Amino acid sequence: LCSNLFSSVVEKHISEADIIFVSVNTPTKTHGLGAGKAAHLTYWESAACTIANVAKSDKIVVKKSTVPIKTAEAIEKILKHNSKGINFEILLNPEFLAEGTAINDLFNPDRVLLGGRETPEGQKAVQVLKDVYVHWVPVDRIITTNLWSAELSKLAANAFLAQRISSVNSMSALCEATSADVTEVAYAVGRDSRIGHRFLNASVGFGGSCFQKDILNLVYICECNGLPEVAHYWKQVIKANDYQKSRFVNWLVSSMFNTVSGKKIAVHGFAFKKDTGDTRETPAIDVCKGLLGDKAAITIYDHQVTEDQIQRDLAMNKFDWDHPINLQPMSPTAVKKQMTVTWDAYEATKGAHGVCILTEWDEFKVLDYKRIYDNMEKPAFVFDGRNIVDAEKLRKIGFIVYSIGKPLDARLKDMPAVA
Ligand code: UGA
Repeated sequence: LCSNLFSSVVEKHISEADIIFVSVNTPTKTHGLGAGKAAHLTYWESAACTIANVAKSDKIVVKKSTVPIKTAEAIEKILKHNSKGINFEILLNPEFLAEGTAINDLFNPDRVLLGGRETPEGQKAVQVLKDVYVHWVPVDRIITTNLWSAELSKLAANAFLAQRISSVNSMSALCEATSADVTEVAYAVGRDSRIGHRFLNASVGFGGSCFQKDILNLVYICECNGLPEVAHYWKQVIKANDYQKSRFVNWLVSSMFNTVSGKKIAVHGFAFKKDTGDTRETPAIDVCKGLLGDKAAITIYDHQVTEDQIQRDLAMNKFDWDHPINLQPMSPTAVKKQMTVTWDAYEATKGAHGVCILTEWDEFKVLDYKRIYDNMEKPAFVFDGRNIVDAEKLRKIGFIVYSIGKPLDARLKDMPAVA
């Protein structure tokens, strides 16, 4: 049995299986109708054709990929037009795993969502899939809905999560302006059990392959359905995220006497969050591009991300990351001149004027900051984009510290105003 757990013999396994889970990529379209917003369904289309071509008995086809609302209908059409008398029942089972906690999320999910057709055959298929999940998921955590609710719920869940981060990040700007502390505000707000405390950490911005993409999808669906006001509302969550990233760069540049040209800035962390080497849509890309634009020399350290990946990321166009690697740009030479990548946090900060922390890796909490300070140019700055260092301790060492949404360092108050 074990040797059959993973296999690349697609046709054989499709023809033997009763239930087929399809988890192919759905990148954002870069050209044509809906470019920059709508999802590309090429991979789904070809998966559906393969299933239709090799299936010899009835199948339940389960969509795991996040796809725009009503794509189930399109997939159903492809399967049925090529069915040769075989019955295909399409179900939706959106994925709620998060990176870094995926195994735990799989074994202990908040909920499992199953969407199916409201016909007797559809309901029967839902029951078959439910019987698979009840082996390890309590039955009251398994939600069954119609296809459209399941499709929309996935996009809505990610949009709501991202919205919380944009909300707390918008508060962080106000906290800095008023000497409030965003951590205290978030704690007080989150203690209301109707709001809850999770996902209220202010940051340099959210990243990852899902939030922005899913919101853009939602926006596109709203626009297509003649709902510009709703589209505008959700677009604002992304705009607030972009604002947070540029606010961070503005703080950095203006604090360092309005220019970082020729100055060395150490970047600690490049992944979009800790416990993953994934850099898709990481806020570090925008921050580094901002610094490079101002002619800084940057040295990046992230023990999970390779130099080649960082160079690709900094050279890529907006949605290229979501396409196969052979379609992505080669490592460019342009960014190489202004950027170095090291495998040592201390090496990265040697001779630097400032350090910015962009990923909340635990190791950044316990670095020897006295050693770092001694090897840096003075005045030495720390810009904490994740609020993970003990700012008071660092100030005692001599650093000028900026933390997101915290009362300003006295020495930053005299700096030129941030745009
Ligand atoms: C997200 C969702 O959390 C999953 O439920 C969903 O299944 C997944 O997308 C998906 O659609 O596949 P993921 O992108 O792996 O999971 O990561 P998150 O933990 O949600 O973090 C996303 C971003 O938000 C990260 O950059 C993180 O640093 C940031 N974040 C998170 C904050 O800035 N503040 C917070 O309080 C929480």
